[in-house]
Amino acid sequence: MTGSDGTGAGRQAPENRAMAFAADLSKAGELQMPREQMLDLGRKALDLVVERIEGLPGTRAWEGEFRQVLEEQLLEAPPEDGRPVDEVMERVVRDVLPLSVRLDHPRCFGFVPSSPAWPAVVADFMAAGWNINQCTWLVASGPSQLELVVIDWFRRWLGYPDGAGGLFTSGGSAASVDAFVAAREAAGHPERATVYMSDQSHSALVRAAIIVGVRRECIRMIPSDDDFRLDMDALARAVTDDRAAGFTPVAVAANAGTVGTGAIDPLEAMAGFCLAEGLWLHVDAAYGGFAAVTERGRRLLRGIERADSIGLDAHKWFFQPYEAGCLLVKDETNLRNAFGVRHDILQDTVWGANHPNFSDLGLQLSRSARALKVWMSVQTFGMARFRRAVGKGMDLAARAEAHVRASPVLEAMSEATLGIVCFRVNPAGGGLDEVALDEINRTVLARMFWDDPAFMSSTLLHGTFALRMCIVNDATTWDDVRETLGAVESFGTEVLSNFGASA
Ligand SMILES: Cc1ncc(COP(=O)(O)O)c(C=O)c1O
Repeated sequence: MTGSDGTGAGRQAPENRAMAFAADLSKAGELQMPREQMLDLGRKALDLVVERIEGLPGTRAWEGEFRQVLEEQLLEAPPEDGRPVDEVMERVVRDVLPLSVRLDHPRCFGFVPSSPAWPAVVADFMAAGWNINQCTWLVASGPSQLELVVIDWFRRWLGYPDGAGGLFTSGGSAASVDAFVAAREAAGHPERATVYMSDQSHSALVRAAIIVGVRRECIRMIPSDDDFRLDMDALARAVTDDRAAGFTPVAVAANAGTVGTGAIDPLEAMAGFCLAEGLWLHVDAAYGGFAAVTERGRRLLRGIERADSIGLDAHKWFFQPYEAGCLLVKDETNLRNAFGVRHDILQDTVWGANHPNFSDLGLQLSRSARALKVWMSVQTFGMARFRRAVGKGMDLAARAEAHVRASPVLEAMSEATLGIVCFRVNPAGGGLDEVALDEINRTVLARMFWDDPAFMSSTLLHGTFALRMCIVNDATTWDDVRETLGAVESFGTEVLSNFGASA
């Protein structure tokens, strides 16, 4: 007996047909690899990554290439037929991956470096291998529970009450967007909304305000004082003036700490002000928030627990691979109200109030399982070691500042509040004017960039060019910091003599 197609398939029981179809599919899988090849490729990748990490101290902290060169190497149509995977891997390791700032290099002090803990790196691989989509409880209950656990750790570290909640985000930028959406919705989405932040705030905050629909001319950059902390009087004046002019102040963003100097805005005063004025207080703690795991950091961040929302970046000072941002909100219903949108296709995912769908709390539906890496690394090393690792950054920055202050060549430009120290080449009594100092220090930075294995960056502090070191890598030693400062002093002395000045 045969079916209409002559194969007999039409006569099979439905379950047999399903099994036959599945077997066909697995045979026909175009993108499958045999087990041995999977293991071989995985082991090679593992060896290469470990080798890279072990080799970091012997390399430069930066490597890069110009676009024209890279286009010649890499710009091509995708191949119609594949190549041996070993070749593909070799090419990536030779031509692509090394061309980047080695942010986990012990002498990487530029921007905000990061040095991911190994169990966290492995966790990212496992999350990808398990193919977790951390969107709803139905789709990923285990990872959702883990996200609840880690968010609860963060809540406690920051001093937030029960009822606070939040979610993992790609980073601090996404956390700021989610926070401003929540603030805007809590304020009833008013016309002519204004937001306030200091002139030291990260550009991510400005961008977030634009994304949520605040007009550029309604983003108020409040001046900071000599310590790079937001000026409270200026904030109060701006809010009063705006109300008088018919604007609707909605939110204030505080820094903890600023990416320029690590300065922490007057959090207690800002919280009191926002409460009195009915404004949402968001604290951008993307850089400095995890200092809260230490006693010292907790003291410095006092008042943060009064904010309506806090943005954190575990891929900065909590030793996680990218991406590991987080938004905490004091009252989680604000996020739910802002982001909860019913969708017919997701009706099966509603499991009642105790089974949260993280996609209802922020802008992403499909999400990677970011909490897994934090959980695995904290479970492996324990908080005592994490606390010491964070504390070490503060110790080294304080020591770097002391070195700068004792140096005959260098001038401290900011206090090392958290893990950042800003300074410049400017010998005491050198009598150099600002124009000369600008040029000298830009030249010194260029010398460091090309002629020293360390990588550091710069900033403008109230318009003045400053060299900047951010010291938050767990593998960095005092020798790394001291020798880098020594190189700056030595290039500085050379450059000064070219300018006819001396140290
Ligand atoms: C203080 C601060 N806020 C926000 C951000 C933006 O965070 P992300 O790059 O994770 O989006 C950064 C990034 O450096 C930062 O340092």
